[in-house]
Amino acid sequence: MKDLYTLPKAELHLHIEGTLEPELALELAAKNGVELPHGSVEELRRQYDFEDLSSFLDLYYATMSVLREAADFEALTAAYLRRAAAQGLRHVDVFFDPQAHVSRGVPVEAVITGIRTALDAARAELGITSTLVMCFLRDRPAAEALALLESLGDQLGRIDGIGLDSAEVGHPPALFAEVYDRARAAGLHVVAHAGEEAGPDYVREALDVLRVERVDHGIQCLQDPALVERLVAERVPLTVCPFSNVRLRVVGELADHPVLRMLELGLFVSVNSDDPAYFGGYVGDNFQGLRDALGLTDEQAETLARNSVDASFATEERKRALR
Ligand code: HPA
Ligand code: ZN
Repeated sequence: MKDLYTLPKAELHLHIEGTLEPELALELAAKNGVELPHGSVEELRRQYDFEDLSSFLDLYYATMSVLREAADFEALTAAYLRRAAAQGLRHVDVFFDPQAHVSRGVPVEAVITGIRTALDAARAELGITSTLVMCFLRDRPAAEALALLESLGDQLGRIDGIGLDSAEVGHPPALFAEVYDRARAAGLHVVAHAGEEAGPDYVREALDVLRVERVDHGIQCLQDPALVERLVAERVPLTVCPFSNVRLRVVGELADHPVLRMLELGLFVSVNSDDPAYFGGYVGDNFQGLRDALGLTDEQAETLARNSVDASFATEERKRALR
């Protein structure tokens, strides 16, 4: 059987703030004089029993308050990339949540500079290529997203795409139509979370109104056979996150996860870790979990890995090298 940790792959759905392990969170809290509600590694980890997306987001936003300056974002990203290399990752499209930092007084330049410095170093040091995708928080006003996008100035050239995340239900994609129009006009890649907790309508809206290139999660498409047919026909990539779905109770347990069924239906799925520090593992761990719980075959693993490269924002030349 193949070693799923060394199988070369790409990660397309990874929130860099979701890679903040308790040890680094406490170290940065001490350095920056930030008080966390949970003062030890054990106490922090005990909080990782989530009811749903919203209960996770509360802890996620609270813990990331320890990130204050560019060096913190660089340390966070560098630590993730070292782990990513050990999980077989060769390319990653990294998400970040600028509004969660700007709203605390951290300049967006500091966030981007920190993350980019580590991404650039990883190219030479670890052989991992990357792009950077700026996500907007859908539970904040679209006007705020638009204002942030327009205020980027020089920083615009340092990001490769935009995404949409945070609390999904009640915050449909169409609210962000103008933001996506501007981003596409600026030549940025466009993706959005849709069909994680909300239903197939959100997936359809992300495709029709935001004209996204990939759908993040998307698993609720299974409720709607006509939508599945369309996603197959249009070969829309779905960035599925098995451990996340179980931890956020979107799916009962890993043995019930539909990702292999989705593959058999002809959907263009990849396997990703979402917020690995919170959900019990990194991308190789997700692959291994699928083997243990669902009997993922070598052939299925290779298809998933190949899909991750094909659906990534790596250059065509890089994709060829990774196939
Ligand atoms: N869903 C929505 N927003 C998020 C997630 C997620 O899984 N992780 C970080 N922000
Ligand atoms: Zn996500």
